[in-house]
Amino acid sequence: MAKTEVDLSSIPVGKTVTIKWRGKPVFVKHRTQEEIDDAAGVNLKSLPDPQDDASRARMPEWLVVVGICTHLGCVPTTDAGDYGGWYCPCHGSHYDVSGRIRKGPAPLNMEIPDYEIEGEKLTIG
Ligand code: FES
Repeated sequence: MAKTEVDLSSIPVGKTVTIKWRGKPVFVKHRTQEEIDDAAGVNLKSLPDPQDDASRARMPEWLVVVGICTHLGCVPTTDAGDYGGWYCPCHGSHYDVSGRIRKGPAPLNMEIPDYEIEGEKLTIG
């Protein structure tokens, strides 16, 4: 299956880029320290789909998620919603800076694809 490479040095802190991987959008978010702390500090019991941030972001400064809402498949809007991550305008699902569902009809967190980070190179797939 096809792999996609991304040069991480081109993504400044605080920015998110959307790339295509196997026909799907993937969000690559270069998180700020504040976002990392925020994501790590969430009480897992408050989450509809409890996953800790460390299991989703292998390197805390980089979040890599498939940009498809787990409700009915729309593409969420970046840097939007009540939790600083993404907002799905189709039916109002809010995702946090770890791509976890926090509010709205989506049942699950956004999916983490297979990926590796070596130095400045991200390989998805
Ligand atoms: Fe995203 Fe329904 S498809 S909230």
